[in-house]
Amino acid sequence: MKQSSLHVAIIMDGNGRWATARGWPRVAGHRAGADAVRRVVEAAPGLAIRTLTLYAFSSDNWQRPPAEVATLMRLFREYLSSETARCVENGVRIRVIGRRDRLEPRLRKAIAAAEAATAGCARLDVQVAVDYSARDAILRAAQSLGAGACRQAFSSLLGIPDVDLLIRTGGEQRLSDFLLWECAYAEIYFTPRMWPDFDKNDLAAAVAEFHSRDRRFGRIKEAAVG
Ligand code: FPP
Repeated sequence: MKQSSLHVAIIMDGNGRWATARGWPRVAGHRAGADAVRRVVEAAPGLAIRTLTLYAFSSDNWQRPPAEVATLMRLFREYLSSETARCVENGVRIRVIGRRDRLEPRLRKAIAAAEAATAGCARLDVQVAVDYSARDAILRAAQSLGAGACRQAFSSLLGIPDVDLLIRTGGEQRLSDFLLWECAYAEIYFTPRMWPDFDKNDLAAAVAEFHSRDRRFGRIKEAAVG
């Protein structure tokens, strides 16, 4: 068994287009997207992934039609309620990142319950970003640290490990205000696959591509010195 150490972050894009292409309402794509989340969480430990951070709802997504927002919020709540027991069995710790003050109370309650129930799990950390904006997170950390800010204090206040591999599905190639600080040296992998179609083979292909990359973190290869 490989040592689990990777932090993989995923921008799960393409739900709406996936549904529209089938003549279905966009929310059908989000429902299928929730199944893809289950598949990826299940496959992650076998690929030496220790932390999985999933972009489920950005702070800008509040601008979507209210009915779509309501469906997404319900899906998050249902996911947390239905998956928590399985997560405990499989050693999956759930954590939700982002603002909580704008979430409905019953979702906040489901988040608190899932986080408490899985707090002792240590095989895989699943971080779900809801009402998340990297710029806001950075701004809040900067405001709270003030003049005493230093890199290490800043990182620890943000509370998310550096990302090794960032995957974006759905064919778009942008960061969309996701983990801007934590992705400083992330390898980025864009795939045209729509999120509802993403499966463990796609995740394995992305991780294999990551392992083939030469990560230098600004340094040069030893053999090239001179
Ligand atoms: C982006 O696709 C996807 C979202 C904004 C929502 C992500 C939500 C899920 C995958 C559902 C469930 C998640 C959890 C954690 C249970 P889009 O709607 O922007 O697609 P489009 O670009 O094709 O319109």
